[in-house]
Amino acid sequence: MKKLDLEIVRDHFPALDNDWAFFDNAGGSQTLRHVGERIQDYLFTTNVQLGASYGVSQKSGERVIEAQRIWAEAIHARSESEVVFGPSTTALIRNLALSMVQQFRPGDEVIVANCDHEANIGPWVGMEKLGIHVKIWKINPEAFTLDLDELRKLMTEKTRLVAFTHVSNILGTINPIEEITQMIHEHGAKVCVDGVAYAPHRLVDVQKWDVDFYVFSLYKVYGPHFALMFGKQEHLKELPGINHFFIGENEVPYKLQPGSMNYELSWGSTGIIEYFKDIYSRHFGDNKLPLHEKLKMVFSLIASHEETLVKPLIGFLESREGIKLIGGNTFNKSIRVPTVSFVSEKLKSSKVPSLVDPYKIGIRWGDFYARRLMDDLGLTGKGGVVRISMVHYNTHEEVGKLLNVLDRIL
Ligand SMILES: Cc1ncc(COP(=O)(O)O)c(C=O)c1O
Repeated sequence: MKKLDLEIVRDHFPALDNDWAFFDNAGGSQTLRHVGERIQDYLFTTNVQLGASYGVSQKSGERVIEAQRIWAEAIHARSESEVVFGPSTTALIRNLALSMVQQFRPGDEVIVANCDHEANIGPWVGMEKLGIHVKIWKINPEAFTLDLDELRKLMTEKTRLVAFTHVSNILGTINPIEEITQMIHEHGAKVCVDGVAYAPHRLVDVQKWDVDFYVFSLYKVYGPHFALMFGKQEHLKELPGINHFFIGENEVPYKLQPGSMNYELSWGSTGIIEYFKDIYSRHFGDNKLPLHEKLKMVFSLIASHEETLVKPLIGFLESREGIKLIGGNTFNKSIRVPTVSFVSEKLKSSKVPSLVDPYKIGIRWGDFYARRLMDDLGLTGKGGVVRISMVHYNTHEEVGKLLNVLDRIL
C-alpha cells in the first residue's frame, strides 16, 4: 500500500518552507507554486481581452476555455459548459438563487440545512420575501448528523430545491450525498450542494452523485481566491440569465457570469490539476489513464494520510476531561475529513488560539459563518468553537507539536 510522500507534496508549496504549522486550512489553504506561476504567466504573456481575432487574444480565450475543460474533466462533468467560474462560492450561489427564483412560484418550497455555511442558506432564505416557503433541515444535535428521515418528513410535492452541505465546515462529517440526492430527485426536486469543505480532501464526482449544482472554492483547494460551480447542462440552459439583456439564453455559462470571470485566476487554477498530475506520476509513474482516474488514486493517498493525522487528534480530545467534540468522534476517512471542532469547559473558545499562537501554530475560533448551527447548538454566546483543520500537506510532526501544546493549555 503506497503512502503519500510528504517531501514531494510540501515542495510544491513555497509557503510551507518555514517553521509555521498551518491548521486553519478550512479557512484557506496554502497556494501551489504551479498556481502562482500560471497566474503570473497569464498576466505577463496573454493579458488582453478575449474574443478578438488577433493571436494573443485567441490564446487568452483558449486558456480560459482550457481551464473550464480541465476542471470539467477533473470533477467528472460531461462538458466544459457545465463549469461556471466565479469570485467565490458565496457569489456563485447568490447568483444561482437570483436566477433560479425566477423559475419559482409563490407557494413553492425550498429546504436548507442548518449545518451549512451561510453562503448556501442566506440566498435561499431570502426567497421568502417573494412568497417561497423555506423549511429548515436540522441536524440531530446529539449525534451531529443530518438524518435522511427528517428530510423525508419535510419534502412535499411543492419542494423545488434542497440546499445542503457535503461536509459542514464545523462538523467534518461527510454526508451521504448520493443517497440524499437520490431521495430528493425521487420527490422531483433539485439539489444545490456546498462542496467547499469536501473538495480539498476527496475527489469530486458530479456524475456519480447525480447532483444538479455543486459549488466549491479554489482557495481552499490549494489555488487562488476563485470558485467553481458545476451545473447540469439541462438546468443551466433553462436558467434565466443574470447577465446583460443581449447575452443569449444559450450562452452557457456566460449568461450566469455577469462581469465575466477572472481570466488569470481561471488559468492559474489549472495549476492545481498540474500538481495532482505530478503527485500521480511521482507515486505511480507515467501512463495514459484518464485524468479523473489518476485523481482517484491521488485522493486515495490523500485520504489515507489525512486519516492518520486526524486519528491522534480525535483520540486526544476524546480523552480530555472538560472537552466536547462538536462533531462525530470517528476518524474513519470514509466518514470524516480532518476538520475538527471542540469546546472547552475551562477556556473560552476565543482564548484557546491565543495560547497556541506563540508556538507558531495557526488555529482559529468562531462560528465560521455557520451561525445558524452555532445558534441551534447553543454555542453562539460562548464564542463558537475552536477549529483545527488539517489538509494532506500537514505532517505527523506538526500534529505532535500541536498535541503537546494542547496538552499544556487545555
Ligand atoms: C463550507 C463553506 N461554504 C462556503 C464558504 C464560502 O466560500 P467563499 O469564501 O468562496 O464565498 C466557506 C468559507 O469559509 C465554507 O467554509
